[in-house]
Amino acid sequence: MAMKKIDSNAFVYPMPMVLVGTHYQDRPNFMPVGWINRVNFNPPLIAAGINSRHTTAEAITETEVFSVNIPDESMVEVTDYCGLVKGKNVDKSELFDIFYGDLSAAPMIKQCKLTLECKLFQKVEFPTNTLFVGEIANVYADTSILTDEKPDIKKLKPFTLTMPDNRYWTVGERLGDAWKIGNSLKD
Ligand SMILES: Cc1cc2nc3c(=O)[nH]c(=O)nc-3n(C[C@H](O)[C@H](O)[C@H](O)COP(=O)(O)O)c2cc1C
Repeated sequence: MAMKKIDSNAFVYPMPMVLVGTHYQDRPNFMPVGWINRVNFNPPLIAAGINSRHTTAEAITETEVFSVNIPDESMVEVTDYCGLVKGKNVDKSELFDIFYGDLSAAPMIKQCKLTLECKLFQKVEFPTNTLFVGEIANVYADTSILTDEKPDIKKLKPFTLTMPDNRYWTVGERLGDAWKIGNSLKD
């Protein structure tokens, strides 16, 4: 094995792909985000690193709410399109069927079978991006993607992103059971 230092502009592999929904000047807007993760157990917090120049950053700062929508494989093209145009310049509100939960400025996408609505919990400004930390207020799941009342990745069919090669990937096979498979190494 030969380990070599490579470019330090690195990422985790793979990244989940979501569409963050906001209201920009009262119009629903959606942007794809790969830099997103759950960051606290209780309360349930989710954080996204969003470039401060994006329409979405302005919108969350203004309304203090946002949604996180998980697109499936069939939505890869429209998801990518949302990342090629800015809400400030292009109306992206007609691309999807929209519904609302409890938060009036957090539009959610009906075509996404798993959606979260979030209230802004904290904002941390970095040199180019702002980390928007949201508290998950409600989660909505299409019953077709549930197994034993839980989201089932095989039914949901989300897709992932790798950078810096900038490619989308489908999700593969189950490898084992978490918090379980390692038990074999105890003692
Ligand atoms: C696959 C993909 C992933 C992206 N992930 C992020 C991200 O995590 N953070 C970010 O600031 N921009 C990300 N972008 C860029 C924004 O989605 C893009 O600039 C978008 O047009 C901004 O939209 P808005 O101006 O309507 O907010 C990503 C774009 C693509 C195509």
